[in-house]
Amino acid sequence: MSTLTTSLLFLSAVISYSTITVSAVSVSSIVSQYGLTNSYNFTFPDQTLNSADANTWINNQWTLYNKKGVDWGNSDLVFSPDPSTSSSTIVRRQESSTSSSKSSTKSKTSSASTSSTTGTGTSTSTATTSVSSPLSTALNGQPPALRVEYPKGSYSKKTGGTQFYANPLTSSNAKVASSSGNSTTSGQYERMMLSYDVWFPTGYAWNQGGKLPGLRGGPDARGCSGGNETDGTTCFSTRLMWRSGGAGEVYAYIPTSQKGFCSQSQVTCNSDYGTSLARGSFSFVTGQWQTIQLLVVLNEVGTANGIVELWYNGIQALQFQNLVLRTSSNLNSVGGLFFSTFFGGDDQSWATPTDQFTYYRNIQLFAGAGQSNLTGAKATKSSAYLNTNLGVWSILGAVMMGLIGMSVL
Ligand SMILES: *[C@@H]1O[C@H](CO)[C@@H](O)[C@H](O)[C@H]1NC(C)=O
Ligand SMILES: *[C@@H]1O[C@H](CO)[C@@H](O)[C@H](O)[C@H]1NC(C)=O
Ligand SMILES: *[C@@H]1O[C@H](CO)[C@@H](O)[C@H](O)[C@H]1NC(C)=O
Ligand SMILES: *[C@@H]1O[C@H](CO)[C@@H](O)[C@H](O)[C@H]1NC(C)=O
Repeated sequence: MSTLTTSLLFLSAVISYSTITVSAVSVSSIVSQYGLTNSYNFTFPDQTLNSADANTWINNQWTLYNKKGVDWGNSDLVFSPDPSTSSSTIVRRQESSTSSSKSSTKSKTSSASTSSTTGTGTSTSTATTSVSSPLSTALNGQPPALRVEYPKGSYSKKTGGTQFYANPLTSSNAKVASSSGNSTTSGQYERMMLSYDVWFPTGYAWNQGGKLPGLRGGPDARGCSGGNETDGTTCFSTRLMWRSGGAGEVYAYIPTSQKGFCSQSQVTCNSDYGTSLARGSFSFVTGQWQTIQLLVVLNEVGTANGIVELWYNGIQALQFQNLVLRTSSNLNSVGGLFFSTFFGGDDQSWATPTDQFTYYRNIQLFAGAGQSNLTGAKATKSSAYLNTNLGVWSILGAVMMGLIGMSVL
């Protein structure tokens, strides 16, 4: 009897302990755990901006790679009212409000409410004003959010969505002090975390999937996306993807040739494209802001100890600590924000069935010195295995221990 009581007490104690480990972690605790000593906030305007002005804002404020501006998708970007406080949670607007980059309007407040037909869009219709854009003044005390449009039928191939690379913390003259405690040989940030909020409108049609912003690094700023694979020496990228039904994953362009890597249960390698890490380990939802933190720590060259971790609304959704993100010190930093979002997928089956939008706010980077110092397998030798340090396993373990405890009675 007392043994049973003890066993049950032990079981419940372990379960409640495990539950605590699953509770949300704060950004500041991740920042201090990984020694992310520097940070950068992407500044948002305090009023809505049309496409032309949104591009100017991003170019001037967000420290884009080589000051080159948005790679593509300029006309799919606006700053519009925060969807949580306005009537702008438009699901499937028929009429483009983002054609203004091609129109002559310069007003900073015509922006997202612009509904004029400028004769630029192929599908622009004057008959579908039943769902109107929010008034540009309807900010309700919140700063506007960055809104990305995916025009009906678009998938990959620069047909909808947008892409740009912002590396505010890694300009060529950035020098990371090695006195920070974690040695760095590159003088660059070898660990970085991206944090942002994303909103999918209610009724969002996920179709098969699409890309979402993540991190990238390495001297080749054009590679490691769009089927341009990495050889481990010039670039890596770790974007997010949503898949059918909103299933989430990290979608990585990283070397895959190390033995055993692709056979891990949470790894899905594709021969021509990126690698899916822990697909379905969390799910995006619609009609609310969701917070993402994505951490990347470069591996030691020759050792499979690179780190990719992701927290969804503060709950750890995936953790890989055995990755090869690079095979050469030529790839010497995590560069910054790879804001890359579109439907696809490489063929029409990935296309968005209708005009759709996503929204972003609170975009921040945190960076620190030092490559991973975890103990890892030699990168070229036998497989390192997945480290799934998730609370659910602790709970499972606790239940099993409890059962063992009772069966001993
Ligand atoms: C060094 O990195 C470790 C984790 O890898 C972290 O706990 C520590 O805070 C870092 N130290 C500094 C000074 O950044
Ligand atoms: C970034 O913004 C947050 C809150 O919006 C603020 O607490 C923090 O100090 C800012 N950091 C920098 C580097 O400006
Ligand atoms: C990694 O670095 C941290 C901080 O510099 C240190 O406390 C820790 O012992 C190191 N771990 C290994 C395995 O060397
Ligand atoms: C792929 O690489 C080629 C050649 O370097 C480049 O022209 C092209 O823009 C790259 N594609 C992407 C999506 O980065």
